[in-house]
Amino acid sequence: MRQIRRARGSTRPSPDAAWSWVFAAFVLAGLTGVAFRLGMVGASLGPLELGDVRHAHSHLMFFGWAAPALMLLIAHRVQALAGDVDSMRRAAVWALAAGLTAYPVFLLSGYQTVAVLGRQVPLSVLVASLNGVAWVVFAVAYRRATRGVVRHRALRLWDAAVVFLLLAPVGAMGRGVADATGADLFWSSSAIHAFLGWFADGWLLLGVLGLAWHSLGGIEWMARLGQRLLVAGLPLSVLAWSSTEGRPAGVGVLVAGAVVVVGVGVVLLVASMLRPRMPGLAQTLWVVPLAALALRGVSEPLGVLGLEASATGDAARVLYLHLLLLGGVSTGLLTALAGKEAAVARRMRAWWIAVAIMLASLVLLTSPAGQSLAGRWLAVVAAAGPVAVVVLIVISRRRVGGESGGPASPVRAATADHARDDLLVSGASQGAR
Ligand code: HEM
Repeated sequence: MRQIRRARGSTRPSPDAAWSWVFAAFVLAGLTGVAFRLGMVGASLGPLELGDVRHAHSHLMFFGWAAPALMLLIAHRVQALAGDVDSMRRAAVWALAAGLTAYPVFLLSGYQTVAVLGRQVPLSVLVASLNGVAWVVFAVAYRRATRGVVRHRALRLWDAAVVFLLLAPVGAMGRGVADATGADLFWSSSAIHAFLGWFADGWLLLGVLGLAWHSLGGIEWMARLGQRLLVAGLPLSVLAWSSTEGRPAGVGVLVAGAVVVVGVGVVLLVASMLRPRMPGLAQTLWVVPLAALALRGVSEPLGVLGLEASATGDAARVLYLHLLLLGGVSTGLLTALAGKEAAVARRMRAWWIAVAIMLASLVLLTSPAGQSLAGRWLAVVAAAGPVAVVVLIVISRRRVGGESGGPASPVRAATADHARDDLLVSGASQGAR
C-alpha cells in the first residue's frame, strides 16, 4: 500500500494513487473470473475450489473495484458542494484495503471455517465485515460533508444509495440468523440475495445514476418518480432469485410485482436524463452505460416473469448481474472518471467493444449452444477482454498521468467537454446551497 500513503506535504491520501489500486483490484478480480471460466472448460485450478474462485471474484469486484471507485467519484463531485471530503476519501481507501485483504481468504477458503490458534474461525466472514466498518465510516463522512446542502437530484440519489450501502450488510447478517434457527432454504438464500441486490441495485446502481445526473441533469419529475419506484420495489425485488423451497404462499407474486416496479423505476430514471437534445457531445458518452441500465431494467422483469424464452436459471442471473455491474455500473464509473482523466477517455471505445463481446458471450451461455465446449471456450476469451482494456488504461495512466490532455479524438474531445460541464453543474449546485 506504499502508493496510498499520503502525498508529500499533504494531509490527505492521494486519490489518484488510490485509483491505481482500484484498477489493480479490477484486473485481479477480472483474472479470477477468467480463471473460473477456465475451470468450467476443465482446466486445473490446482488446490482452488471453483465455488471459492467465484466468491473471490464477486467480492473483489464489489469491495475492491466498484465500491471504492464509486466512493472516490462521489467524494470528487461532493467536494464542489461541500468542500471538505477528506474523510470520505479516507473511507474509500479503507474500503479498498479491506476488499483486497478479504480476497485471498475467500480464494483459499471461501465461506468455510479455518483453524486459527487451534480454533475453527469463520475467517472470510470476519475479514469481510471489515468492509462493513469502512462503509459505515463512509456513510457518516458523506452525511457530515453534505449536511445543510440543498438536496438536488444527484444528492437525493446518493442519499438513497448510501442507505442501501448500510442495509446490505444487514441482509448478509440475516444468513447467519437463518442458519442458526434452521430456517427454510428460502430464508437463508433470501438473506444472500438481499445483500447482493441491495448492494448492486441499491448502492451501486443509485450511486452511478447520481453521477450521471450530476453530469447530465434531466427531467426532475420523471427522475423523482423513477427513484421512488426503484426504492419502493427494491426491498422485495431482490428475492426474485431466492430458492422457492419453503417460500410462503403469495410471496412469489409480490416479488414479481416488485421486480416490474424496479424495472419501470430504472427505465424512468434513465429516460429522465436522455433528452433528444443533449447539452454537449460529452454527454453522449453517458448514453452507453445508461442504455445498459435501461436494457437491464427491461430484460430482468421479462426473464423473471418467464417471458424471455432463453433467460432462465443461474446463467440468466449472471447475465443480468453483468449487464448491470459491468455494462452499466462499471462503464458508468469509467465514464465519470474519463471526465477528468485523458488516459481513461482514450480507452472508452475499446472498453465498450470488450464489454459488448463479454455480455454477448453471457447471452450465448444462457442457450444450449453456449454450453458446448466451443461455446465455453469463447466465453473464456470474451472474459479476458475487459481485463485487457483496464491493463491498457493502467499503462496509459502511468504514461500520461491523471489529468486530461488536449482532445485528440471525438471521445477525448467529448470527455474534455464533459469535465467542463461537470464543473458547470457543480458550480450551479454550489450556487443553490
Ligand atoms: C472482467 C470482467 C468480468 C469477468 C470476466 C467476470 C466473470 C465472472 C464469472 C466467470 C462469474 C461466474 C459465473 C458463473 O457462475 O457462471 C461471475 C459471477 C459474478 N460476477 Fe463477474 N465478471 C466480470 C465483471 C464483474 C463486475 C464488474 C462485477 C461487479 C462489480 C461482477 C460481479 C459478479 C457477481 C456478483 C457474480 C455472481 C457471484 C455469485 O453468484 O456467487 N463481475 N463473474
